[in-house]
Amino acid sequence: MRKIVRLLGIIFVLSFIVLQFFQPEKNKEEITANHIFKQEQVPDKIKTTLAEACLDCHSNNTRYTWYHFMPVSLMVNKHVIEGKDELNFSDWGNMDVFEKITILEEMCQETERSTMPLKSYRVIHPKAKLKNNEIADLCDWTSKLAEELLAKAISK
Ligand code: HEC
Repeated sequence: MRKIVRLLGIIFVLSFIVLQFFQPEKNKEEITANHIFKQEQVPDKIKTTLAEACLDCHSNNTRYTWYHFMPVSLMVNKHVIEGKDELNFSDWGNMDVFEKITILEEMCQETERSTMPLKSYRVIHPKAKLKNNEIADLCDWTSKLAEELLAKAISK
């Protein structure tokens, strides 16, 4: 019996090690001119909020940490693919003005309702648990930028 338990333990450890060779591809690219930080005037505190709470899933640059091993990395990868599919801040420059305005409104709504960032992400990233004042600052900024973009679009 003890032998079987030991054998199972060894098989488990070995499969875990072998599994690590099948990591999904990382989401790590250079920041290009289309990134929201290059396209818009983003105040430092908003940059910090976005970087701490949103960009890991909504840009081409995820910060990878020590727990990025299989099978956790599969879950991270899934969130990144789905998150980028909905909204990619690295691609801001390619969006039209109405898309941008809609996203800015949603950014505020989703954070106010605590639906973004995803709960599982908030659990492991304490800094992504946004405080009320951080959400208020984000919403001030998104509504100001949305107004500016609209005014610019109309005056064209
Ligand atoms: C752990 C990954 C992750 C993080 C971090 C994250 N998101 Fe998301 N986001 C997603 C996924 C996945 C979706 C698409 C599925 C969904 O709506 O749940 C999404 C969708 C969205 C949408 C589109 C919603 C809709 O219904 O059209 C907005 C807007 C958004 N996120 C904003 C944010 C903002 C702002 C932050 C930071 C405060 C953030 N997200 C952080 C994963 C993430």
